[in-house]
Amino acid sequence: MLYPKMNAVRQVFDLNGIWNFKLISDELDRKEQAGRLLKKSLPMPVPSAYNDIYPNREFADHVGEMVYQRTFDVTESMLEGRLVLRFGSAAHRAEVWLNGNRIGAHKGGFLPFSFEIGGKVQEGENLLTVYVNNIVDYSTLPCGRVETESFPGLPDRTVDLPNFDFYNYTGLLRPVWLYTTPLTYIRDITINGRCDGSFEWKVEADGKDPAGSVADIQVLDENGTVLFQGSGFEGAGQLEKIRPWSCEDPCLYRFRVELRNRDGSRDEYTEEFGFRDISIEKCRILLNGKPVYLKGFGKHEEGPFSGRGTNLPLMTKDLGLLKWIGANSFRTSHYPNSEEMMQLCDRMGILVIDEAPAVGLNTGFTATGLLGGSPEGTWAVLKTGEHHRRVMEELVDRDKNHPCVIAWSVANEPASQEEGAKEYFEPLVRLTKERDAQRRPVTIVTYEGSTPETCKVAELCDFLMLNRYRGWYDTEGNLPGAAAKLEAELEGFHRRCPDKPIMLGEYGADTVAGLHDVNARLFTEEYQTLFMKTYAEVFDRLPYITGEHVWVFADFATAENIKRVDGNKKGIFTRDRRPKQAAYYLRDRWMKRD
Ligand code: GCU
Repeated sequence: MLYPKMNAVRQVFDLNGIWNFKLISDELDRKEQAGRLLKKSLPMPVPSAYNDIYPNREFADHVGEMVYQRTFDVTESMLEGRLVLRFGSAAHRAEVWLNGNRIGAHKGGFLPFSFEIGGKVQEGENLLTVYVNNIVDYSTLPCGRVETESFPGLPDRTVDLPNFDFYNYTGLLRPVWLYTTPLTYIRDITINGRCDGSFEWKVEADGKDPAGSVADIQVLDENGTVLFQGSGFEGAGQLEKIRPWSCEDPCLYRFRVELRNRDGSRDEYTEEFGFRDISIEKCRILLNGKPVYLKGFGKHEEGPFSGRGTNLPLMTKDLGLLKWIGANSFRTSHYPNSEEMMQLCDRMGILVIDEAPAVGLNTGFTATGLLGGSPEGTWAVLKTGEHHRRVMEELVDRDKNHPCVIAWSVANEPASQEEGAKEYFEPLVRLTKERDAQRRPVTIVTYEGSTPETCKVAELCDFLMLNRYRGWYDTEGNLPGAAAKLEAELEGFHRRCPDKPIMLGEYGADTVAGLHDVNARLFTEEYQTLFMKTYAEVFDRLPYITGEHVWVFADFATAENIKRVDGNKKGIFTRDRRPKQAAYYLRDRWMKRD
């Protein structure tokens, strides 16, 4: 799915800013409400999560529906071609109305969706109403449980318990745009460049008369010099001298398409891309044919005030800190990050393991405490299959051209040890790989409950990514014991999958910034540093370890829980991005290591 870009043919209009907002608690006639202005609404920034904007616990923790509304004006010229309304994302479901008419809906809180609205708007002012539903349950990704609690003498209370360890920030989290294209237009582009200078392309046209169109393409360097010209909706080319995209030299090229239509109109679009290869050979992930050791983090996309809303200063600062600490990669744990973050990673040379929002697919486990499980088992209870397939398709379609994306993660900590896990994930892994022209590696990130003996999905993965907390959730305070357990388990997985690279997707300890102790007690900065050192010593003894992703880049907000003191404190940085002591240890280690 192409990102909205202004050019000589296309116009883009920004619908971001302060919208009118209201939580919905009672029955509402949606059609009636979508035909008139909201009464007693609140000013609400878009993009942003709504939760932290106004003081009030019930407001922040609302379960169910909310409504966003704004007007926008349409000019005559905007109606000459196609007019498209596009949302970067709305968590977790959205239903969109225009001037009292329903124009469509979308499920999934972290991927874009759009509607062609040419025939549904009038010149002049239009009323846009978006109903957003924030419930997570056993049919959504991520998963949660809606429960009703009763109390003596009080009204029943509905709660939505997240089966994941991050606060359920919701709303119009990402930018909202209007954009125009000609009636016959470029619907999608796939551009795949390899480090030997060869490349293939595919252009898909759609609309009024795509059969009568011709596609001319060019490859340009960053100075706009034309390096290659060709035509055709599909093709291949070879450039003799190119600079491969890498962390050290994230060289971006431009793939420019001009669509010449039978009626004399034309469309154009320019997509950035890189020439790079990603592959796996003998327990190593190779970038451009050379082994790359992944140094970095599991990383949330969130911060104060806007929550999980798109925040350009914060994302830029985060990537600056990744470079400072000597990291070369992160996983978008546990949901696709914004398109703007992907563009920034392309530009700054950060490798991304792109994760679907498939977290909490485990009725017997959550990060903050056991659920007790369902007797029928996770895979008989969850209703996420069809939606999960759709999400993988949308994720690959959105991010397929980014050189920064080196692998896909289909899920985080599913019940991969339970019967039914292999049957659930095998089609998903196949679909993801087949959808991706670059055939990037695919993994499923597994947890401690899925051991070398019980895991049902290891063979489905191109590389193993394991979350381990020996020394925290168990063996706490005893790091030598933790290291011994960790090494034995890594050896167990290596014996089971001798040709697959293995890396830690998560390891870490909650750490209160400023808390110190000469004996490195739990929660101190000294313990976190020692924890990192202990795990690093194990990694350095095992030749099949291809990376180390620490949990977590920065402290982040979670649902209230007696194990969470103002959120999750396993950050190497505080939530306002100040380094804890372990940051300096990791910087020293990673700066020295390729
Ligand atoms: C899990 C999970 C994370 C969570 C972490 C923790 O492994 O993947 O989302 O935050 O453990 O408990 O800190």
